[in-house]
Amino acid sequence: MRHLLSAGEIDRDQAVLILDTAAELGAVTDRSIKKLPTLRGRTVVNLFYEDSTRTRISFEAAAKRLSADVLNFSAKGSSVSKGESLKDTALTLQAMGADAVVLRHGSSGAAHRLAHAGWIDASVINAGDGTHEHPTQALLDAFTIRRHLAPEGGDLAGLSVAIVGDILHSRVARSNVHLLTTLGARVTLVAPPTLIPVGVESWPCAVSYELDPVLDSVDAIMMLRVQSERMQAAYFPSALEYSRLYGLDAARLSRLPEHAIVLHPGPMNRGMEISADVADSSRAVMVEQVANGVNVRMAVLYLLLAGDGKDAG
Ligand code: CP
Repeated sequence: MRHLLSAGEIDRDQAVLILDTAAELGAVTDRSIKKLPTLRGRTVVNLFYEDSTRTRISFEAAAKRLSADVLNFSAKGSSVSKGESLKDTALTLQAMGADAVVLRHGSSGAAHRLAHAGWIDASVINAGDGTHEHPTQALLDAFTIRRHLAPEGGDLAGLSVAIVGDILHSRVARSNVHLLTTLGARVTLVAPPTLIPVGVESWPCAVSYELDPVLDSVDAIMMLRVQSERMQAAYFPSALEYSRLYGLDAARLSRLPEHAIVLHPGPMNRGMEISADVADSSRAVMVEQVANGVNVRMAVLYLLLAGDGKDAG
């Protein structure tokens, strides 16, 4: 694999390899000195055109734990605000000797363009492109689900996962549908009809317009934020009504099977898609998701860069 652009292009064996590698590299996190020399002399650029907390910081932590040099580029405060194009920014990064570019961009397809336009030699990792994909988020979600519900390793065959909320604007949902089904899980998308994408019939998952009927049969439930910043219209009558029909509160939590876990990619809107008591409950694994994100991103950087034939020093 030269780039990581889409969860849809990862096959089962590649996914299991990434998860197993993340588990092995995660052992470094438990040491007092959290560092391996594996990517010494390599340069990883975090190229972020959209805001991020978890993804940017965890890619930086992952690259540093593998001893890579890290350059952080945020569009805000850069020459992008003077009109510089993605191409000219990419050529600048090429001149800086980037070996990997971690790209977050508001346009769906931006990572694919950067990888295949011939502007740079670096590996490109999609850290979220518009409403399209966020493959490392899906990998860290799968890693977290596996750790809780299939701790013996392998894939997620037989597990049932509900993804609830603003599917229409969610790159996390699309990447998770691809990856979780590749790993053998059954996925059900839950949302009001207005927040389900056109063409969802071709996705390898079930769809429910109601949350309550799916609660007692899930092993994991992933709550998604309503992405108001991507909405130009009203997709539901009110926040209160949305929360009443699709929010996960303590009453609904009590109806999940005892072993079921609650995920959220963050950032959360407490009181909207998830109540504060559920977010803080022992069934919620959001903090683990963030920690696992570092392990998974270490694995992705390692697999893309450590075996590419260049001298890592
Ligand atoms: N889950 C996620 O992508 O979070 P950030 O936007 O904070 O990176």
